[in-house]
Amino acid sequence: MNQVKIGRFIAKMRKQQNLTQCELADTLGISNKTVSKWECGNGMPELSLMMPICEILKINLNELFSGEKLTDADYKKKAEENIMKLIEEAEKIKKNIVGGKVLGKVANIDMNVSEAHKTNIEFWNTIGSEFLGVTALPKWGGYLPTEEKLNLLGDLSDKSVLEIGCGNGHSLKYVSDLGATDLWGLDISENQIERTENYLQTQGISAKLICSPMEDECGLPIDYFDLVYSVYGIGWTTSLDKTFKRIHSYLKKDGVFIFGWSHPIHKCVSVEDGKLVFSNSYFNEEWYCGDMSDKEIMLSNRMISTYLNSLARNGFIFEELIEETDKEKAMASDNDFGRKALMLPTAFAIKVRKL
Ligand SMILES: C[S@@+](CC[C@H](N)C(=O)[O-])C[C@H]1O[C@@H](n2cnc3c(N)ncnc32)[C@H](O)[C@@H]1O
Repeated sequence: MNQVKIGRFIAKMRKQQNLTQCELADTLGISNKTVSKWECGNGMPELSLMMPICEILKINLNELFSGEKLTDADYKKKAEENIMKLIEEAEKIKKNIVGGKVLGKVANIDMNVSEAHKTNIEFWNTIGSEFLGVTALPKWGGYLPTEEKLNLLGDLSDKSVLEIGCGNGHSLKYVSDLGATDLWGLDISENQIERTENYLQTQGISAKLICSPMEDECGLPIDYFDLVYSVYGIGWTTSLDKTFKRIHSYLKKDGVFIFGWSHPIHKCVSVEDGKLVFSNSYFNEEWYCGDMSDKEIMLSNRMISTYLNSLARNGFIFEELIEETDKEKAMASDNDFGRKALMLPTAFAIKVRKL
């Protein structure tokens, strides 16, 4: 569907009916921001609103989807074209899952780095405090056993550590409690950096915090860190290769990099009427946008091999891949996420080393 053309058409027909955006929105029982979004070509009316819009604007559905008034002569041809486009759109709209959340309205997109950063910064600036300590050490992700059981970090006494996507600072507090003395955090969101700063201050901990995309040069020291780690941070990158290359450069020789993220198989399987259903292809690494907590995010699913191959390409030596489920925790859960975790990995953690 050509959203820009449809948006302009809605604006034109609304004006022909002498309606303001507010008046159209009020009649439909929605906000005027939503009408403005359609008219700017940044979204389509949801299905339940399409017939009421047509009635108010005195057009038919075929004209709405075509974004223009139609004569009797081209009505049938346009109707057929529109049906084909709708089928294509429907095929693109799939469910997707990040951690324990099923995303709403998922659609594939052509990834544009600055758009992805802008959208995700806006998300984390606004929603970041909802994740206070949720995606933080000792958890590496989903129903994986925790750090207390896995002991991936080892002895951190007097170590220099860097967290990628430091969020609210809870993981930095955890590594500080384990003895790390030189703490650094990087995050793309100013508000998250501020949250980390405030949280660590209340804990009497100081850390050097940098606000930057992990993919970009940001002044972090080279050959410096004993450990770089990330909990639900790495998957947000727009380029695994650029990110892993940089992380490799920040580490000392023999330095360790560990990260946890949502398992790609978890995103392929949804729970429908108590059954696990394969709803996405494991091989699909296309970028998508979707709603989480009513805010848009942009992400892509990556296969396990994509992570491992990129780590190898960028100079890391593989040490450990964790995919197991903490069965006790999963059995104690009363939700779909926990039930699923008994059948497949909901998260993974990878530990690698710089030679
Ligand atoms: C799930 S949170 C991490 C929470 C963190 N582990 C904690 O202990 O609070 C993911 C973080 O990644 C950050 N992020 C997203 N995209 C990023 C990017 N391209 N570069 C750096 N950070 C990014 C977000 O702002 C967010 O704070």
